Amino acid sequence: MNQVNSLLQPQGPAGWPVIGNLTDFFAQSPLAFLTKLQTEFGDVASFSIFGRKSVLIAHPNDIERVLLETGKYFHKGYKTIFAVHLVLGNGLASSEGEFWRQQRKLAQPAFHHERISGYADTCIHFSKRLLQSWQDGEVRDVHQDMMLLMQQIVAKILLDTDVTGEAQDVGQAFDVIQQEMSAEVMGWRLFLPSFVSSPGRVRLRAAVDNLDRILQSTIKKRRTTSNNHNDLLTMLMEARDEDGNGMTDRQLRDEIMTFYFAGFETTANSLSWVWDLLSRNHNIRAKLEAELEQILARKYPTFSDLRTLSYTEAIFKETLRLYPPGWSIGRFTSEDVEINGYTVSKGTEIWMSSWLTQRDPRWFSNPETFIPDRWLDGLEKRIPRYAYFPFGGGARTCIGNSLAQLAFTLILSTIAQNYHLEVLPDQIVEPEAGVTLRPKHGIKVRLHHQWSSVRG
Ligand code: HEM
Repeated sequence: MNQVNSLLQPQGPAGWPVIGNLTDFFAQSPLAFLTKLQTEFGDVASFSIFGRKSVLIAHPNDIERVLLETGKYFHKGYKTIFAVHLVLGNGLASSEGEFWRQQRKLAQPAFHHERISGYADTCIHFSKRLLQSWQDGEVRDVHQDMMLLMQQIVAKILLDTDVTGEAQDVGQAFDVIQQEMSAEVMGWRLFLPSFVSSPGRVRLRAAVDNLDRILQSTIKKRRTTSNNHNDLLTMLMEARDEDGNGMTDRQLRDEIMTFYFAGFETTANSLSWVWDLLSRNHNIRAKLEAELEQILARKYPTFSDLRTLSYTEAIFKETLRLYPPGWSIGRFTSEDVEINGYTVSKGTEIWMSSWLTQRDPRWFSNPETFIPDRWLDGLEKRIPRYAYFPFGGGARTCIGNSLAQLAFTLILSTIAQNYHLEVLPDQIVEPEAGVTLRPKHGIKVRLHHQWSSVRG
C-alpha cells in the first residue's frame, strides 16, 4: 500500500534559480556532494538540477524497497538520456516492462555458471599476454592496462574478436563511444536537449554509425554461414522464447552494446582499485600471496580454483565496498510515493549511492579502511541486506556479476603471482564519479617481478 497523505517533504540545500544545486554537485564532485547532503539532511534528502527534482535515499531498507519495487512505483527512465538511447538503444540495462522481462529471460542462460566457466581461459590468455609485455622495474599506468585488458576480454567473450589485433577499428569505435558517453552522462551535456549538436556529439554519432555497420555485417554473416564461434553473440542468436522467436538483428546489436559498456569499464575499474589498495596494505598483500601459494602452488588459476580462493573473494567484496564502479543507481518515481515518512512526488529522480551507504559507520566499522577479513565471519548476515549493493538488486540486479567476479579473481591471481605493483609515492589517487567510479589521474605503479613466479 502506497500511503502518501500528510507526510513530510524531504529537505535539502537551497539552490540557485534555474540551475538549482548544479554548481555544488559538479564543483565539489558528486561523491562529496552526496556525502554532505546525507550528513546535513539525513537518509532522505532533496536537491535539484535544472528543475529536475532529485532525492537521495541512504538507508538500506529504503534502498531495498525502491530496488524491489522497480517496475511498480519506480522505473529506470534511462532512455531519456540522449547518449544511452543512442548507444544502448533498447538493451537490457535501459529497456523496461514486458519487453525487458522477455529480454532478460532470453539473455539469462548465457550467464549461467557452466556457461561462464568457458570464459576463464580467455581471461587467463589475455592476462598472460599482458604480462609478456611487462618488464621488471618498469613504471606503468596500471589503470590503462586494466582498461585495455578488460576491453580485450569482453570483446573476445562477446564477439570472438581481438580488438587489439585484427579488429582494431572495433576497438577504436568502442573507445570514442566510451569517452563521449562519459562526457554526455556526467557533465553539462547531460542537460543539452537531444536535438542540439556539439563536436562531441558528432564524434559520438560517427563512432556509433561505424560500430553499427560492423555489428550488422557480423550478425548478417553469422546468420548466413555456419557458425562455429563460441561467444555470447552466438548464444543470444540461438536463444528462443516460449513461442520459438529469437532476437532481431537490432535487438542483438543493442544487447552487445549493452554488455560491452556495462561489463568492461566496471570490471576494469575494480581491478585498478585493487592494485592501489594492495600496494598500500602490505599485510593484506602478504595474506593474498599466502593463499595463492597454498592453493595454486605457483600455477595459473583455473575455473575450479575459484571456489577455494576465499581470501581472494573477500578482497573482491571489500574492493567493491570501498570503490563500487556503479557508484550510484537511479530510478524515477512513477507516482507519488512514501519513503521513510516523506512524500516523494511523481517524476522525481531517486539516487541510491553504494559509495555512500557502503561507507556508513552504522553498517561497517572503520568504514574507510580496507579490511577484507570483515567478510570472513558472517558480516553479510548481520548487516541489512542493502547496506552492500555493488551490483544493485531486485529483478534488475547485474546480470554479469558472476562473470565480473570470475574475471577479477583470475586476473588478480595471475598477475599477483608474477608481480608486486608498487604505487609511485607521488601518485595522486582520487576517485572520479563518471559513468563508473574510476581513478581520475590513473594509477602509476613500479613493477617488481617475483622471481618465484608462475609455471604452466
Ligand atoms: C565489477 C563489475 C560490475 C559492476 C560493479 C556492475 C554493476 C552493476 C549495477 C550496479 C547494475 C544495476 C544498475 C541498476 O539497477 O540501475 C548492473 C546492471 C547490469 N549489468 Fe553490471 N556490473 C559489473 C559487471 C558487469 C558485466 C561483466 C556485465 C556483462 C558482460 C554486466 C552487465 C549488466 C547488465 C546487462 C545490467 C542491466 C541488467 C538489467 O537491468 O536487467 N555488468 N551492473
